[in-house]
Amino acid sequence: MKVRDVQHAVLPQTTVEERSRQGAVVALRRLLNAKVRPRNVEIYDSEAAPAFAERHGRRPQSEEEIREAFLMAPSYRLWSAANRSAQEMIWVSVGQPIYRDLDRMEAVTEELMHSPARRGSLTLDPSYDPSPEVADVDIHLQPGGYGMDRGENDVVAGALYELGGNVFSFGQGIGRGDSKAGVILRLLEEAFTGFKPARMLDIGCSAGAASAAYAAHWPDVEVHALDLGAGMLRYAHARAESLGVAVHFHQMDASSLTFEDDSFDLVVSHNLMHEIGEEKRQAMIRESFRVVRPGGVVIHQDVAIRNPPTLVHQVERDWDTHWNGEVHWATYATADLKADMIAAGFPADTVIEHDLAALSGMMNNRWYAISGRKPGQDNNG
Ligand SMILES: C[S@@+](CC[C@H](N)C(=O)[O-])C[C@H]1O[C@@H](n2cnc3c(N)ncnc32)[C@H](O)[C@@H]1O
Repeated sequence: MKVRDVQHAVLPQTTVEERSRQGAVVALRRLLNAKVRPRNVEIYDSEAAPAFAERHGRRPQSEEEIREAFLMAPSYRLWSAANRSAQEMIWVSVGQPIYRDLDRMEAVTEELMHSPARRGSLTLDPSYDPSPEVADVDIHLQPGGYGMDRGENDVVAGALYELGGNVFSFGQGIGRGDSKAGVILRLLEEAFTGFKPARMLDIGCSAGAASAAYAAHWPDVEVHALDLGAGMLRYAHARAESLGVAVHFHQMDASSLTFEDDSFDLVVSHNLMHEIGEEKRQAMIRESFRVVRPGGVVIHQDVAIRNPPTLVHQVERDWDTHWNGEVHWATYATADLKADMIAAGFPADTVIEHDLAALSGMMNNRWYAISGRKPGQDNNG
């Protein structure tokens, strides 16, 4: 499997015009986020805090007051409105080719899902009611949300996630090489020398980009992956089959796994913690401890938005919570994840937070991860 620019049969075939529109959205978002957004904190000092002081006779003190002050600055409001619109434009730019090409995509999916040459599998659970805190919210404004399922052979949620991710990450999303799996493979090599799993689990896999990347890297490892949405999982399964890698996908809640105790050597999650609230996150971490075997490794990776230098930076960062449907952005960013890992059972001396460089060429140049190791005599995989 090629690492970058991954092409597979379930991707919609885009026209020149559609690619041009996507390119324009990428350019707009790059401008707004890489060039304009870094100035928001300066705008706070030069426009927002003075406007607040004029109205209230003092500087803003709390998070709420800082947010109120930001919204008093016309330059910030202009950026915020433009960024919200650009986010919505992502979904227009990818929704159009998906719905135009959907009959073909669904036919390919059906064929791949029932092919006798299948390498992996898909286990859907019709009795599962996807976790409402995620399924009922259009997180990062993705239309229909992660849990969308339009019936037999439906793959829209997965296609939106993969294509939207490419536009969202300035054209360098999951379909173009999964930075996150690559970063964790590098971490394993560097910090867990000699460790190699025989069976692994990817929790909250979405379109299965990381899961497929692990399966491609370790063809002899039994890779399992789970998510809550059937539309997402059908896409992930067909995508993996089209790429010729073996992944076993399951519809399951991250906070209540049906796998046996001690049944995986490696458990990972990528960008899941910021999508779920505190209770689900703590249960998910407890489950990752339960299902990993003694001596096995758990790594939960996510966005590097924790520990902003000031309260003003924190409020600026939390734009996504309020305007981008990222309901748990701030919950995750301020959580004591070390405490969660230790409470789940990981010995404190095995719990390590990592500040990781993305693979080269990625715009988002850092990732956060926290790892732990279940006590046990067999530490070498
Ligand atoms: C931001 S996406 C990350 C996807 C993928 N791991 C990646 O890095 O590209 C988070 C995923 O977690 C899934 N998710 C959220 N809550 C979940 C839950 N309670 N159980 C299972 N999956 C969940 C969502 O459906 C979504 O697909």
